[in-house]
Amino acid sequence: MVSAVIGTQWGDEGKAKVIDLLACKYDYVVRYQGGANAGHTVVIGNKKFIFHLLPSGLMNPNATVVIANGVVVDLQQLEEEIESLEALGFPTRSRVIISDKAHIVMEYHKIIDQLRESLSPKKIGTTARGIGPCYEDKIARKGIKICDLVNLSASQLAEKIKLVSQEKVFLIKNLYNYDYDFDPVKLAQECKEKFEKLGIRVENTEILLNEEIKRGKNILFEGAQGVLLDIDFGTYPYVTSSNASTNGVGSGAGVTRLDNVIGIVKAYTTRVGEGPFPTEQDNEIGEKLRARGDEFGATTGRPRRCGWLDIPLLRYSTIVANVNEIFLTKLDVLSEFEEIKVCVEYELNGEKMRIPRSMDPVTLYSIKPVYKTFKGWKTKISGVRTFRELPSEAKEYIKFIESEIGVPIKYISVGPSREQTIVL
Ligand code: IMP
Repeated sequence: MVSAVIGTQWGDEGKAKVIDLLACKYDYVVRYQGGANAGHTVVIGNKKFIFHLLPSGLMNPNATVVIANGVVVDLQQLEEEIESLEALGFPTRSRVIISDKAHIVMEYHKIIDQLRESLSPKKIGTTARGIGPCYEDKIARKGIKICDLVNLSASQLAEKIKLVSQEKVFLIKNLYNYDYDFDPVKLAQECKEKFEKLGIRVENTEILLNEEIKRGKNILFEGAQGVLLDIDFGTYPYVTSSNASTNGVGSGAGVTRLDNVIGIVKAYTTRVGEGPFPTEQDNEIGEKLRARGDEFGATTGRPRRCGWLDIPLLRYSTIVANVNEIFLTKLDVLSEFEEIKVCVEYELNGEKMRIPRSMDPVTLYSIKPVYKTFKGWKTKISGVRTFRELPSEAKEYIKFIESEIGVPIKYISVGPSREQTIVL
């Protein structure tokens, strides 16, 4: 079985819980895009861990985890994550395989990301982890890759870093007026030492994964962020710099065969950073969703913008990501609401849209969401383990979402731990 878990909104749908729950069925769990901008929180008993770079299937002892070629890797972050997990008692180092083709987030990428965000009049609201500038270098063929750390001598690597970073240092100094310089020889040495210290296996992961698929092994691809943050299909330019949808698995891991795509849908909508958000509730409803759902960024701690479920966007994202089953998360967060709204279509100058005509912010800022109102269930559901036991109002809400999106809901999460899951 080759599966992918994909966020269908603007990230933070609760993918990590899903991956942690499903990882026991898989031999490999693979990150294929993004970097330490992700914040995947897993709760096991009273232990909570936030994954940024490592796949969150790692807490499952049988899975080998892979950081494939499409990921951009911050070596410092990776080391910290491995050390923290090992300190918590999870054998990690020996179970991580990294692609020789993954690109490295250098210090100058992070500096550019931070300076751009602080100086630009039109902010994206990035996580400032250097993700965009690192992918820019990848596309411009000026990146430093894991294979460079392995195959080049320190002096060869220093030469390469010097050559590819010239433009960046110029930009930082002259456009952003920031006093920055570094010694390429020292940096090359540091990078090589940091990587060696990690002690993880380097592989041609696209060959490894395809061969393992042929042998009948089970592989789970862990998407970070979500379809609406995808560089091609999201609300550009308010997106991340990678293919966060299913499309990223091909380019980011070299695997083009998928048996199923599990789309993660949060029972309401959130977004961090700037950009259009048609169902946003910038009022006490949004505040209540934020407080009940603990909607604060796992990477940056920023309060997330909150609003009602947006079916037109979900129709779009589930089609684009080829989702064939839905895992509905955080349903319990809605338990205290008197009434719950769902956006069923958009209206623009008298025209009705079931799927947004364009993902362009100009369109999404202009449309008017049309809502259907549901009666709330006003009772705790965190202890419920079967669909039958759910209050009738909750069942009605779930069935409506399923029929409007047109994809079966196979799992419902009613709390952060593995056990708080209803399988349909
Ligand atoms: P970047 O990925 O740091 O460049 O940020 C670009 C946009 O994606 C910003 O709006 C971020 O808030 C958003 N973003 C990046 N990673 C995540 C995530 O894991 N969850 C939610 N939003 C994210």
